Amino acid sequence: MRIQLSTDQESLKEAKIIAIPVFVGLPPKFENQLIKDFLKDNPKFGIPNEIQLLFNAEQSFLLVGAGEKEKFNFEICQNFGGTVSKYLINRFKDATLIPPAESEQLSSDQVIYACVLGAEIAFHDPSSKYKTEREPTKLGGLQIFLEKARGEDKIAIKKASVVSLGINMARLLGDLPPNEATPAYFVETAKKIAHDFKIKITVIDEKMAHKKGMGAFVAVAKGSDEPSFIIALEYVGNPRSKDKYGLVGKGLTFDSGGISIKPSSGMHEMKYDMCGAANVLGLMQIIAELKPRVNVSAVLALTENLPSGKALKPGDIIKSYSGKTVETINTDAEGRLVLMDAITFAQKDLNATKLIDLATLTGAMVVALGNKITGVFSNNKEFSDKLISLGETVGEKFWQMPLGEEFKDMIKSDIADITNIGHGGSASSTAGSITAAKFIESVVEENTPWIHLDIAGTAWDLKPNPYSAPGATGVGIKTLVELLTI
Ligand code: BES
Ligand code: MN
Ligand code: ZN
Repeated sequence: MRIQLSTDQESLKEAKIIAIPVFVGLPPKFENQLIKDFLKDNPKFGIPNEIQLLFNAEQSFLLVGAGEKEKFNFEICQNFGGTVSKYLINRFKDATLIPPAESEQLSSDQVIYACVLGAEIAFHDPSSKYKTEREPTKLGGLQIFLEKARGEDKIAIKKASVVSLGINMARLLGDLPPNEATPAYFVETAKKIAHDFKIKITVIDEKMAHKKGMGAFVAVAKGSDEPSFIIALEYVGNPRSKDKYGLVGKGLTFDSGGISIKPSSGMHEMKYDMCGAANVLGLMQIIAELKPRVNVSAVLALTENLPSGKALKPGDIIKSYSGKTVETINTDAEGRLVLMDAITFAQKDLNATKLIDLATLTGAMVVALGNKITGVFSNNKEFSDKLISLGETVGEKFWQMPLGEEFKDMIKSDIADITNIGHGGSASSTAGSITAAKFIESVVEENTPWIHLDIAGTAWDLKPNPYSAPGATGVGIKTLVELLTI
């Protein structure tokens, strides 16, 4: 499907189908008697994502609600693009789309970026691979273009296509079943990306991890028969600078809980426990293509958490790569174990000076914030404030969680340096997400700005916007693209 973006009245008159944004109570940018009559009869038409098809002998008009003009923002604009593309997919080969007018909140290139991103994200369909009774194929991929575009608008379209490719790649990976998306599959995928986008990749297998002293990662990995890996990807955009972002992704390709096994209902959703790693990989692909003048390294910690005769046991004491010993009271708190070694690796071996980790870390995060807002934990308010406000500009919601002194005793152990579950309150679940964040913080070097994003509630969404397929969301990618490209 080809979608041409246009506001040119002459070419709009020639178009066979035009998607037209309608702000409540305002005349649209293209009108004829048919449209006027409809809006006169339906003066309240225009709530976000509402659609109406009108047609005469020559042309079709898809009216799409863009809400109230004063409330128009990135998210609504992205949803607008998604609604349009979802409707047009498989119905029309060629279409014309009038981008919503810029507003105080949104410049014209941001309108284009949001709109095109929404259209591309709606095009993604994770079920197409497995449904044997196939839906009719989509009309040859999605191509969006602008004729006679201003420079900034062209850049915005290009950015949207690069970013949406990375997001859809991460979503595809996230949605893959755990028998396909194994740690080895991640290695293959990451190698392909590293080759295609010319970035450095290093793969550490379990044996090497053991030799290096990554006892926490290996403790989780040894219960699984699938080979486990740590992958490092390095993008150098500013060779003269020592500053380097280290992005760390939790990559549990399946988390059964291990010996402290989870209840079976809902356990299948733990295939999504690698979304942190998937999103970091998608982000690296985007960064390697956009080529900003920053240095970014990524570490993906990939393994399964399974019960077996070789599995980690409750009570085991292990030695992490940082040197800290950990009493592993609950084997289901495995994410913090693999992350602690991945973060130490990012600091020791890759010399990262600023850290961001993405992890589906705690069920308590879902209890606290639900499925639309990501919890942010940080040792540096300036850094996390920046990320949160950049999130607002691209329609991703974050909420700062506390991480103060009052929580430091939660990870105390009588016998080792720290424990992997909380001791703070009446139950091990007391402030569960903060306990996990405290645990990770304990291996972050002093003065290294660090942000932990607990994406347990937001990494996948089974009830998303109507235009977006249920499943992995690629959460965080859009915001981190903003952070890394300015
Ligand atoms: N991957 C889970 C966390 C999770 C749960 C993510 C639900 C998304 C949805 C993590 O490894 C885990 O099992 N955490 C435990 C920690 C507990 C044992 C301290 C949890 O949250 O129950
Ligand atoms: Mn777990
Ligand atoms: Zn987990």
